[in-house]
Amino acid sequence: MSRSTDRVALGPLSVSRQGFGCMGLSHTYGEADEAESLTTLDRVVELGINFLDTADVYGLGHNETLLGKAIKGRRDRLVIASKFGNRLDQATAGRALDGRPDYARAAVEASLRRLGVEQIDLYYLHRLDPMTPVEETVGELARLKDQGKIGAIGLSEVEASVLRRAHAVHPIAALQSEYSLWTREVEATILPTARELGIGFVAYSPLGRGFLAGALPVEANDRRHQHPRYKADAVAANSKRRLVAEAVAQRLGVAVAQVSLAWVLSKGVVPIPGTRHVTHLEANWAANDVVLDAATVAELEAAFPVGSTVGARYPAGSTPVPGLQPA
Ligand SMILES: NC(=O)c1ccc[n+]([C@@H]2O[C@H](COP(=O)([O-])OP(=O)(O)OC[C@H]3O[C@@H](n4cnc5c(N)ncnc54)[C@H](OP(=O)(O)O)[C@@H]3O)[C@@H](O)[C@H]2O)c1
Repeated sequence: MSRSTDRVALGPLSVSRQGFGCMGLSHTYGEADEAESLTTLDRVVELGINFLDTADVYGLGHNETLLGKAIKGRRDRLVIASKFGNRLDQATAGRALDGRPDYARAAVEASLRRLGVEQIDLYYLHRLDPMTPVEETVGELARLKDQGKIGAIGLSEVEASVLRRAHAVHPIAALQSEYSLWTREVEATILPTARELGIGFVAYSPLGRGFLAGALPVEANDRRHQHPRYKADAVAANSKRRLVAEAVAQRLGVAVAQVSLAWVLSKGVVPIPGTRHVTHLEANWAANDVVLDAATVAELEAAFPVGSTVGARYPAGSTPVPGLQPA
């Protein structure tokens, strides 16, 4: 069987080796053209990618609505993941992060409507609400699962102890956290804990928001301009590390984005790269067939030691959630 048709288990769900992250289709990293986005999503499905990632907060509902249009007529073949917990109305709600049971219930209903589906296959708490014990949030998500509103429960960006507490209330199908060559902090305790508990790991921003694909923001309204890692001095410092990945890519005759994704895939996790363009999508999917030997993995890891990346992951004071300005 070709590697591209392999499936991976995330709890009860069976997903393609790579998923597709839809966030950038809502003007996150520059403008996104709706017709092109729908063409890209068509190609996602044609390639055999069955795992589509969105969140209510991406484009303040725009992303779920767009995905709803794209999946019409073929929803049954797909695993749809969405997230809640970053209030869309945070300016008036008085809180940015909300994991309260009532809010979870209202948020899932709104997402179901925007997506035009009867069930969200994987529903994540996007960020831990520091004022609501995770047990309460997961307890409500378990009730939503019993009622068929969601198919499985996920968490995003939580630490290992929270993952354990949540999993004790109800099995967690997947943890979604940032993981890429330049963001390897989860390797210390979070990834081993997910493995120990049998929780799937979904790697977001696996291309470092573009940097590890050799891309830098050019459009004025690109959110990356606010990210410390995209400031000129950080780019200069981090580019020296990327040279190693570029040399590996040249040696293997592939693109640097493919080397970056192949490294994430070598960790047995499910990356969800995002792109607006079919050409990039096809290149990223082809990374399934790029096999890195142990020496090459070690070479890449030596170039990107844990914690060595210059610049914080998110702007200071941000929630830190894509799609939202600092609270
Ligand atoms: N749970 C969370 O808190 C969280 C946070 C962030 C993201 N996410 C999820 O993870 C998904 C992916 O993360 P992400 O979009 O932040 O970052 P990413 O996938 O690491 O990188 C996306 C960026 O890389 C560029 N790119 C993609 N493939 C390329 C290629 N082959 N060559 C050159 N450039 C390429 C894209 O630009 P083009 O459009 O021009 O190709 C885009 O700017 C999101 O869509 C979202 O679903 C979750």
